[in-house]
Amino acid sequence: EKGGYEHFMIKEIYEQPKAVRETMSSRLAKDDSSVLLDELKWNKHDLKAFKKIFIVACGTAYHAGVVGKYYIEKLARIPVEVDIASEFRYRSPLLDENNLTIVISQSGETSDTLAALKEAKRLGSRTLAVTNVVGSSIAREADNVIYTWAGPEIAVASTKAYTTQLVTMFMLAVYMADLKATVSPERSKELIKALRNLPGQLHEILEDVEPIKTFAQRYGFNEDVFFIGRSLDYAVALEGSLKLKEISYIHAEAYAAGELKHGTLALIIEGVPVIALATQSDVYEKTLSNIKEVKARDAVVIGLALKGDKQIEKYVDHTIYIPDTDQLLAPILAVIPLQLLAYYAAVTRGCDVDKPRNLAKSVTVE
Ligand code: F6R
Repeated sequence: EKGGYEHFMIKEIYEQPKAVRETMSSRLAKDDSSVLLDELKWNKHDLKAFKKIFIVACGTAYHAGVVGKYYIEKLARIPVEVDIASEFRYRSPLLDENNLTIVISQSGETSDTLAALKEAKRLGSRTLAVTNVVGSSIAREADNVIYTWAGPEIAVASTKAYTTQLVTMFMLAVYMADLKATVSPERSKELIKALRNLPGQLHEILEDVEPIKTFAQRYGFNEDVFFIGRSLDYAVALEGSLKLKEISYIHAEAYAAGELKHGTLALIIEGVPVIALATQSDVYEKTLSNIKEVKARDAVVIGLALKGDKQIEKYVDHTIYIPDTDQLLAPILAVIPLQLLAYYAAVTRGCDVDKPRNLAKSVTVE
């Protein structure tokens, strides 16, 4: 059942080109002019009614929500608040019929996410579920559902569910942007074309994992690792750090790169590995200056950048490249080396990769 792979997690990592392709395939117009989300049937008046959107989820799905906020705000220009389900449900959120609440859940059964969805409905909000399991509790409870077509995810650590959630949030944002005319038809086409390139680019990353395996073996016995990045790179850093913690038990922290000097820089000492994500061109120079700050404390910096970026090599100890893409889509590629790093670090340390201690695949109790 593991199809020749040693663990479900690595099998699922390798299934991402297919999972991403299936999630988008029937939802893009043949001429790349638009995203077709027939499951929604919204018109521009429906969208006008959404004064604010809430995205609510747990764990990795929450991290997909952080990226989703960025997509919707940037493309569709609707304000978005992202929250952790166990916080949202108890904080008396200010919601009514002028809001849309999007819940994201691979399993569709996470109890806090389901409770958050019920609370949003009770307050009159419209609701949309993004889930991977057809007919799950969350799918049944929401007004509308968009399924991610990742296929069954068995490993506790979520991988292909996350990348398909990102693709879904991206398609949703482009769909809303088209309806609201907040992006030009040319830009929309360019984004859809970039989306179509992802499966091939994911495949390209997965063809050469040796360098990442080497880093994992080399740094797998460090007890602390930091992930830094700005804007979408920060969102991916959050996910990279969770992945590493949960399966390799290495203490990892993700920091918005500009926030380091407000405290965390005190922890950066000689030899501490720092994974610095630098895929976002609009904050690239700022990220470089944060890289210089950690280098000045003798951290070992692994840069993660888009292919063709030669500048970064001057500032870091090692570089991992991902194929060039629109910066909005970079998270979908950038997370792959981080998943692999977590996987190989866990293998190096002899951890039970598919069933990490204390964790369950689906958290159906509070
Ligand atoms: C981490 C992981 C968890 C889940 C979280 C939500 O790798 O898998 O953080 O993302 O428990 O689960 P779902 O998406 O099923 O609601």
